[in-house]
Amino acid sequence: MDQIRDAILADDLDAIGGLPTPGSYRAVLVRKDEQDMFEGLATKEKDPRKALHVEEVPTPEIGPGEALIAVMASSVNYNTVWTSIFEPVSTFGFLARYGRLNDLTKKHDLPYHVVGSDLSGVVVAVGPGVNKWKPGDEVVAHCLSVELEDPAGHDDTMMDPQQRIWGFETNFGGLAELSLVKSNQLMPKPAHLTWEEAACPGLVNSTAYRQLVSHNGANMKQGDVVLIWGASGGLGSYATQMALNGGAIPVCVVSSPEKADIVRSMGAELVIDRSAEQYRFWRDEENQDPREWQRLGAKIRELTGGDDADIVFEHPGRETFGASVYVAKKGGTIVTCASTSGFLHSYDNRYLWMNLKRIVGSHFANYREAWEANRLIDRGLIHPTLSKTYAMDDVGQAAYDVHRNRHQGKVGVLTLAPEEGLGVKDPAKRERHLTAINRFRDV
Ligand SMILES: NC(=O)c1ccc[n+]([C@@H]2O[C@H](COP(=O)([O-])OP(=O)(O)OC[C@H]3O[C@@H](n4cnc5c(N)ncnc54)[C@H](OP(=O)(O)O)[C@@H]3O)[C@@H](O)[C@H]2O)c1
Repeated sequence: MDQIRDAILADDLDAIGGLPTPGSYRAVLVRKDEQDMFEGLATKEKDPRKALHVEEVPTPEIGPGEALIAVMASSVNYNTVWTSIFEPVSTFGFLARYGRLNDLTKKHDLPYHVVGSDLSGVVVAVGPGVNKWKPGDEVVAHCLSVELEDPAGHDDTMMDPQQRIWGFETNFGGLAELSLVKSNQLMPKPAHLTWEEAACPGLVNSTAYRQLVSHNGANMKQGDVVLIWGASGGLGSYATQMALNGGAIPVCVVSSPEKADIVRSMGAELVIDRSAEQYRFWRDEENQDPREWQRLGAKIRELTGGDDADIVFEHPGRETFGASVYVAKKGGTIVTCASTSGFLHSYDNRYLWMNLKRIVGSHFANYREAWEANRLIDRGLIHPTLSKTYAMDDVGQAAYDVHRNRHQGKVGVLTLAPEEGLGVKDPAKRERHLTAINRFRDV
């Protein structure tokens, strides 16, 4: 592994293909024999630090259409939080199901799960049938894993019946020194970014792109008012940039003055601090309070000069969903990709049907959407929102911080990279975007 790391650090990328592939590597994983460790505990009491381990594991065999990547950096996504607290289900069920698919996928069904759905790094080796990528290529990976044998996925690869999220529903994820991906997950690493910056947008940036911009999501247009929950978080920090780039009018919801400052630094002018406003959409466990929905709606109109939200960018789920349906404009769209605060949503359907609103489900991004989203990063139209970088040994703490909502934007992880700040190949381009790239740093 040291030889590979040294060659990458020395920028001797042509040498990578000639180096021996290590037989094992260090990886962040959860263990099957611990999947019941949090039974009986409330979600908030489950501690990712107890479940995530860093261990040496054998290098998987590279199959047809696959690529082995030396991972320089990765990031923590909320799906790693879900895996580490074994909610809503243990991910070992996903691995067992994938393992039953064919001889090639059998290797994923192991008593450990190497997690992580983002990476930046260098191709070490490719399997038979890979033409586009070769050892030494600097890459990032998106997390869509599909088989595409069924016509259902041929228009929109997210519709493939065998659609999985790499590093969550498959093994050999990105929070490790090596990672195994399908070669069609690979995309060029933006040359103006460091390894840790390049690793952090992938999953959330692609998800926000489909959810907000794509015709498969809300199909945002110029002038749309977009209510963005968690606007300084992983998804929201990219949705906010896309709304601003696309000529829309984001109304950013955050929970502290510091977070309000961050979204303002991106250019958002209309900001709601939900903590200061003290919204209580739920009166108790069973009942919501429509007066609180109205109070949010009135706040949006006050900020926009009388407009309602054409699009509500949803992911908090149970806690906010009733309010989201209420505040969407007549004919507007509530587009949801998650349920962080609870999966069983309730809302008053009269507001939906009488006002011809639509609820759209969205999940990650198809190949093309992921590529388009990465292109925006590469062209400096969207910037990484990296706030803090952890060592691989501290991933448990990083996931704990994300679970406790103590972070801003995205949280990065150094895997093979020995320190932050490495991997920039286009310093002139970086210089042009430096302020934007650093907006979330250390806030
Ligand atoms: N389906 C997909 O493809 C997909 C992709 C990415 C993520 N997700 C899911 O989307 C969710 C968010 O992911 P993320 O990466 O954006 O996480 P994140 O970085 O933790 O950001 C979420 C933000 O939501 C806000 N929030 C949290 N709880 C809330 C509540 N009860 N009410 C209102 N706002 C709340 C917080 O902002 P404030 O405290 O500042 O308001 C937080 O910053 C997770 O459940 C994740 O698993 C799904």
